[in-house]
Parts: sequence; C-alpha cells; structure tokens
Amino acid sequence: MSDEGHFLEVVDNRTGKKHLIPITEDTIDASIFAQLGLSIYDNGYLNTAVCRSAISYIDGDKGILRYRGYDIEDLAENSTFLEVSYLLIFGDLPTRDQLQTWETRIMRHTFIHENMIDYLKSFRYDAHPMGMVTSALSAMSTFHPEASTALQGEHIYENETMVNKQIFRLIGKVPTLAACAYRHRIGRAYNSPSNEFGYTENFLYMLDRLSENNYVPNPRLARALDVIFILHADHELNCSTAAMRQMTSTGVDPFVCLAGAASALYGPSHGGANEAALKMLEEIGSVENIPGFIEDVKAKKRRLMGFGHRVYKSYDPRAKILKKISDEVFEIMGRNPLIDIAVELERIALSDEYFIKRNLYPNVDFYSGIIYKAMGFPTDFFPVLFCIGRTSGWLAHWHEQLQQPIPIFRPKQSYEGAEPRAYVNLADRSAAQSPKIVDQGVNARKNLPPDTE
Ligand code: ACO
Repeated sequence: MSDEGHFLEVVDNRTGKKHLIPITEDTIDASIFAQLGLSIYDNGYLNTAVCRSAISYIDGDKGILRYRGYDIEDLAENSTFLEVSYLLIFGDLPTRDQLQTWETRIMRHTFIHENMIDYLKSFRYDAHPMGMVTSALSAMSTFHPEASTALQGEHIYENETMVNKQIFRLIGKVPTLAACAYRHRIGRAYNSPSNEFGYTENFLYMLDRLSENNYVPNPRLARALDVIFILHADHELNCSTAAMRQMTSTGVDPFVCLAGAASALYGPSHGGANEAALKMLEEIGSVENIPGFIEDVKAKKRRLMGFGHRVYKSYDPRAKILKKISDEVFEIMGRNPLIDIAVELERIALSDEYFIKRNLYPNVDFYSGIIYKAMGFPTDFFPVLFCIGRTSGWLAHWHEQLQQPIPIFRPKQSYEGAEPRAYVNLADRSAAQSPKIVDQGVNARKNLPPDTE
C-alpha cells in the first residue's frame, strides 16, 4: 500500500525520462530501479530495509525501544524474560494459562543429549565459551534430524507443532549449553538443569552449584539477570538478526540458523563492545585520570567505548535501566569501584560540547560489562549472556519469516575487478605480477605452546 499520493520523482538524465516511484511506509521499492538498469549501492546495508517486520520498533532520536508496541521500560519493570519471549515470538503477552504452558514446555527442553555433553567435553580446556556455544548449536542440528529441512523437505515448517517444538528446544537448551561452556572453562563437572527453578534461576544454578544438595541461586541476582535478558532480547535488524534472516531464507533448520546468528554476535563490533568498555574503565583506573582521557578522545586518539550508537542519537533506553540494575547488583555483590569512574565519565561527557554536538550518549554496553563483572562473570562469557537473551529475538524473526516467506537473500555487488583477460600458462607467469602470500613460514611454530605442537 503506498503512502497516499506520495512519490519520489526521479529524472534519468541518460534518457531524459522522468519516473514516479511510489513511497510506501517511508520506503521505495528497490526493484523498480532494476527496470532502469540500476541497482542501489549501499555498502553494509546502512539504509536498506530487507523485510517488513512487526517485532520491535526503535526511534533512535527519541531513545525509544518497543517490543510489539510495549515500551522496553514497562517490560523490564513488569515482565519476565520468558513472558517477553512469548510476546516477541507470538505477538502478544500470554494469559496466565498460556504462560504456564509456555514455561513448562521450555523447562522440559533444558536437557541436552549425552553425546552433546561428550562433544562439549572434547573442547580444549581454555576454549572460548562463545566458540563452544556456536559449535554446539550447529551440532545440535544433527541431534534433531526430524527438524531438518534438508532431510524432511522444506515444507515441514508449515506444521505449527514442528515450529513450536524447535522454539521450545532452542530457548530451553541455550542456557544449558552456555552453562556447560562456563563449567568447562573453570574445570568443573557440568550440572544438569533443575526444573525446580524458573528459567534464569535454573541458569544460575547450572553455573554455580557445587556439591550442595539444596543449592538455591540468589533470587535478586536471578531477577537482575532476567531483566538483562529482556533488554538484550531483540533490537530489530542488527547484524546477527540479519544473519538469522539471511540463513532462514535458505530453508536450513533453525539450529544452524541460530549458530550463524550467534557467530555474528561473537564479533567484537557486535556482542563484544561491553568487554571493550570494561577494559577502558580499568585502564582509566581512577576518577582523576578522566579529564586526560577525555582530552585524548576529543583529540581522536581514543574512542569512548560504550558511547555512541548507529541508531540511537539520544540516551539508549536500555542503558538507563542497566544503570538502575547496577545499584541492585552492587548491593548484593559489593560495589565495584569502576562504577564511580563510569558515572563521572558519563557526567563529564554529557556536559561536554564535543559529545553533545555529536549526540554521543551511553549505550547498552556501557553499564552491562560492569554489572557482569560485579556478578563474577569472566569477560569472555559476556557475549554468551547476550546470546541467551537474543535467542528469543532471533527465533521471533525466524517465526515471522516462516509466515511471510521471502526469496533466498541475494544482495547485489558492484563489480570493480579485472576486465576479461587471456589465461596465462604457469610457465609464463612473472613473480612481479602474482600477489605474494604473506606468511610467517615454518619457524612460527617455534612460538606455539608445547601442547599444540
Ligand atoms: N567516542 C568518541 N567519539 C565518537 C564515538 C565515541 N564512542 N562515537 C562516535 N564518535 C564521533 C566520531 O569520531 C565522529 O566525529 P566527527 O564527526 O568529528 O568525525 C562522530 O562522532 C560520528 O561518528 P561515527 O563513527 O560516524 O558514528 P556511527 O554512528 O557510525 O558510530 C558506533 C556508531 C560505531 C557505535 C560508534 O559510536 C562507536 O565506535 N562507539 C564505541 C563502540 C561501542 O560502544 N559500540 C557498541 C555499540 S552498541 C551495540 O552494538 C550493541
């Protein structure tokens, strides 16, 4: 449906022709340009809408984030992560009965296959937990061949029960994989999930229980983490969600899709910025060093990590909520001195002309790293925590895309390579023309630790 009477008028001065392109919900149909022999060049999809979605809404100028029309502040205040997951995936908040069934179904899918446990145990003792989780998600596809589109045909997901079963499985099992990766790293036996607890309490139980028979995670910490999962659950077409949609368009099963999305999240520019923000605060070290650091930032020698956002040109609403959660967590775990540096840094930055002019405000990563650290999580586990929350958002996009099938994603490129040329036989090639591969050679092996030789 076009916006009543709104068109973009384009004159092609190659032909002198005028074209009226209908404007629909602030977008124009890029395929119209194909008729003119043109494609849109948009390096990195910075201004390209690749789907219509009803899941989350962001107004970056006003600092608004809504899931299915509900403000993130209201959801963080009043809902649980599983309620929000239901909302994201099915479009509305559940009734009491629906919520109970939903929670029961998910908590019944928290166990993982024994061979999957063996698989996780086969990783090196110091394996990055995100590497373990992404690999395990991909491996999980082989444990559920009845859910494989490659084996069962692309139409299996026309069956709603089949769709829901994979959603229960993935939301249920991701925290178990995450907890195994955590325990592996610290050399402790993996805990089985316990259905005595709610979703996030069970996750903390799997992480922390030692030999106690009646171990009960701190309910206030569990609530704080549950809210953090809500804040991370969806953020429209961020890089990993776009990866999820791209993989979904191939028809591959959701385990593999999720492995792809989680792998994108693993990248330091996406799921790892909170670690960078935390390192920056540690490097600043004390409040007295802040003015010098700010000067370096303004001289463009440094970036203020955890500040600025591609979409938000105002205070990230998630950062506001996290700031409140940090007080709650410090009350339980003890105050982390880095928070004083963070608060003072924020105060100075928000009153400094350099940051005001560029609309640089704290983003979600500014406070989340300090909270995770105060909770005792190792830094390389931060993206795994992000992944648990974002799993619901990825699945909401998978679910939405199954209902509005789109062709396989196939972006265009603008070719700028060699013109057609004649093949050169091996004997006739010159060293000057052939690119040299940069390599350290065999001597580099001398630097490897003995157990990798
Ligand atoms: N510190 C200092 N200056 C900054 C910062 C920052 N964090 N971010 C942007 N600027 C400045 C730039 O130097 C530039 O200044 P100029 O106009 O004088 O050249 C101006 O603000 C605009 O910068 P861009 O890089 O064009 O802004 P963009 O919107 O593309 O960048 C980004 C967004 C990448 C997030 C950036 O703000 C940044 O690097 N922030 C720090 C890293 C970070 O916290 N990332 C997490 C993002 S949230 C997430 O992914 C979940």
